Amino acid sequence: MSEPLLKVSNLAVSIRGDEGVARVLDRVDLEIPRGRIVGVVGESGCGKSTLIKAILGVLPPRAEIEAGEILFEGRDLAHASPQVLAREVRGSAIGFIPQDPLLALNPVFRVGTQMLETMRWHAPPQWKGRHRERLVELLGAVQVPDPEKALDRYPHEFSGGQRQRLLIAAALSCQPRLLIADEPTTALDVTTQQQVLKLLRDLVAEFGLSMLFVTHDFGVVAQLCDDVSVIYAGQTVEAAPTRRLIDEAAHPYARMLLACHPDRATELGGIPGSVPSPYVPPTGCRFHPRCPIAVAECTSRRPDLQRPSGDHSIACPRHHLTLPEAAA
Ligand SMILES: Nc1ncnc2c1ncn2[C@@H]1O[C@H](COP(=O)(O)OP(=O)(O)OP(=O)(O)O)[C@@H](O)[C@H]1O
Ligand SMILES: [Mg+2]
Repeated sequence: MSEPLLKVSNLAVSIRGDEGVARVLDRVDLEIPRGRIVGVVGESGCGKSTLIKAILGVLPPRAEIEAGEILFEGRDLAHASPQVLAREVRGSAIGFIPQDPLLALNPVFRVGTQMLETMRWHAPPQWKGRHRERLVELLGAVQVPDPEKALDRYPHEFSGGQRQRLLIAAALSCQPRLLIADEPTTALDVTTQQQVLKLLRDLVAEFGLSMLFVTHDFGVVAQLCDDVSVIYAGQTVEAAPTRRLIDEAAHPYARMLLACHPDRATELGGIPGSVPSPYVPPTGCRFHPRCPIAVAECTSRRPDLQRPSGDHSIACPRHHLTLPEAAA
């Protein structure tokens, strides 16, 4: 098998905050093979956005990468200089689609002015002198109506779904190899969300990209992603091709998260309890306080990510046990 485009290994990130040191990520593993869409799923506060920030090199100033590697095309981004990350990686080799298009677009400048400014710094040299032409093509590819005129309009003149399309075009405008999206469809209505997901799938295929897609919604993962990694409280607990994970989820957290999904749940309700504070994370397996099959060992030993089969990894030695009826 060829090397994955992105390989995050054993990543640990801590952030110094008001209450002490928050151990936000502690042993995150993630692989994005070329040409595939990988979903990262987990409840709010599990560290999904922090993982993205670590990859893009935009962690807050009080954060520190304490361990691990972020290999992108063979280069370790966890130890790359801020200059290299800004010039050669972020917005160039890796394009980012943010959650809230209104926050990402400056309301006082025309859309074209903003996008062309980004291209001035990050677009590949062979596009020199053709930036506007290229942008018009990209706006066509993301199905923004009347691309020429769109460039001269202001952000507020577009609907929420169109603004998200503008940002997808912006992320593509520097010819990235990897797209990273942080819950890009949560602010959209269901129909628009479906259209944007389909567009993303089509673009990844058309441009030969790979994508990392963060969400808390397993329904979105099922629709869009080839593979999925489940993270809990800053730890990767399970990873597999999407179909397999949905059919054969093994880690208690993954099983319980899936059971909460509206398509499956008999009555709606989340997993009892809540994601622990990263300032005082549980010892051993971070999920043990909420886990219905935890035993004493789980409170003291942090489980390794095991690979019972080549493309399926699970961080729970008790994953073969049945969950009590109420939890599964
Ligand atoms: N700058 C910071 N200082 C201190 N703690 C932080 C900081 N940024 C994030 N955290 C903490 O790290 C944990 C993970 O946050 P993160 O934003 O990565 O979660 P998330 O999975 O993206 O959640 P959501 O689904 O709500 O976006 C949370 O407990 C959060 O409070
Ligand atoms: Mg987030």
